[in-house]
Amino acid sequence: MNVSCFFADGTGLAWASGLAAALPEASVSVWQEGDPPADYAVVWKPSQGFIDAQTALKAIFSAGAGVDALASLRLPGSVPVVRLEDAGMAEQMREYVLHAVLHHYREFDVYAAQAADGLWAARSPRRKADYPAGILGYGVLGQAVAESLTAAGFNVVAWARTLHPDASITVYSGDDSREEFFRAVRILVCLLPLTPSTRRILNAAAFAALRPGGYVINVARGGHLDVDALLAALDSGQLAAATLDVFDEEPIPAGHPIWKHAKVRLTPHISAATLRDEAIEQIVGKLRALEAGAVVTGVVATDRGY
Ligand SMILES: NC(=O)c1ccc[n+]([C@@H]2O[C@H](COP(=O)([O-])OP(=O)(O)OC[C@H]3O[C@@H](n4cnc5c(N)ncnc54)[C@H](OP(=O)(O)O)[C@@H]3O)[C@@H](O)[C@H]2O)c1
Repeated sequence: MNVSCFFADGTGLAWASGLAAALPEASVSVWQEGDPPADYAVVWKPSQGFIDAQTALKAIFSAGAGVDALASLRLPGSVPVVRLEDAGMAEQMREYVLHAVLHHYREFDVYAAQAADGLWAARSPRRKADYPAGILGYGVLGQAVAESLTAAGFNVVAWARTLHPDASITVYSGDDSREEFFRAVRILVCLLPLTPSTRRILNAAAFAALRPGGYVINVARGGHLDVDALLAALDSGQLAAATLDVFDEEPIPAGHPIWKHAKVRLTPHISAATLRDEAIEQIVGKLRALEAGAVVTGVVATDRGY
């Protein structure tokens, strides 16, 4: 069995050696032009040339939870694309979002500014009942984050594409309920996949529908956010603050106003990194299951794009 790796970030060798160690029955290599077609591909942002050279694939494993980077490629229609499910990302996402929410809710930004001015001044305690949180996306990561925020005492609702009748929180579903969902929340967390239906979902209409003084956390993809609408809503006071981990262009261009905006806290796409060892363990488990003719989870449905 041949496994070919393509990692646009230059980490292919590390992935190939980890996969080779975990999958001794396979021949694993970093793809080079002219290589024979592989049985399985393990990829991060592969080129069209790599995909076109793979004429015998049984599956493509994406080394991330989101597969939006594959959307612009011509993929062989019958070959399943398998994404990562959690693989160590849920714990990181819980930490990131819980930290961001508590930081905002307990006004640590205000206290940091006060301390810089040598000002000792307690503010009135807030009530969690006034800060309902809503999660766009109730999948692997959305559910983990919902659980953490609920455990911390926040009222949490979520929004998904389909009904989730067994959920322990209210999950709105479908476009018809989107505005009702926005109206119910003050803290908005985006954990959707980026698809044509979710692009720029964090827009002026969404910000206007949130409870006044809304707080936006985007940990999904830059394409979900209309940055100009966000900056306008922050400047008008409609939104109180935003924490952003993902951007249309990464790194953010020098001089972009978002770098220095007083109400924006930003991080360089680190909310939930792919952990190579955990990812390899999951990929190898699924690859062996496919070889044995079993069904695996995490197969991307091409019609819905996630
Ligand atoms: N910043 C980072 O470091 C980082 C790290 C990991 C992942 N991410 C992002 O997080 C995303 C979510 O990951 P995941 O593993 O939780 O994905 P997932 O398990 O596939 O969950 C996706 C959720 O979004 C919902 N959804 C999709 N399209 C929708 C639509 N049109 N309308 C309403 N709801 C929709 C799905 O609804 P249903 O439940 O009805 O299917 C599901 O609840 C990834 O796609 C990736 O872009 C970012």
